[in-house]
Amino acid sequence: MKVVIASDHGGLNLKRIVTEYLTDKKIDFTDLGPDNTDSVDYPDYAKPVAEKVAAGEYDKGILICGTGIGMSITANKTRGVRCALVHDTFSAKATRAHNDSNVLAMGERVIGPGLALEVVDTWLNTEFEGGRHEKRVCKIEE
Ligand code: RB5
Repeated sequence: MKVVIASDHGGLNLKRIVTEYLTDKKIDFTDLGPDNTDSVDYPDYAKPVAEKVAAGEYDKGILICGTGIGMSITANKTRGVRCALVHDTFSAKATRAHNDSNVLAMGERVIGPGLALEVVDTWLNTEFEGGRHEKRVCKIEE
C-alpha cells in the first residue's frame, strides 16, 4: 500500500506522529509537507494529495490540519476522492467498509495522538465491503 500524507501548520505535530507510525509499520508513504510550523494555506496541501490519490499514484491519502475540516472540504472537490473527516474508530471502520473512503482527514486540535493512531490503524486496515454499498459509492461519482 502506498500512502500520501500532508498537513498544514495546525496539523504538523500530529502528522509527525502519524509518519512515525507509518515508518514503524513499514508502510510506504510520501510526505508532501510542510516540514515546519510557518503558516500555510491548507488547500495548497490538500489538493495535491487529493489529485495524486485520484490519479492512482497512491492508494490512500491522509490530511491533517487544525480541525481536519478545511482539508476534507478541499479534498472532496477532486473527482474520485472520497475524503472522510474522522475522529473515532467506529467511523474509521464504517467509512472504509461503507464509503470506500480513499482519503482520511483529522484535526490535531480535536483528537489526541493515541486515538489518532488508532483511527489511522483502523482506517488503513479495514476493507471496503462492496455489495449494497457499491452502487451507493458509484452514485457519488455520478
Ligand atoms: C489554521 O489555523 C486552521 O484554520 C486550519 O488548520 C484548519 O483547521 C482549517 O480547517
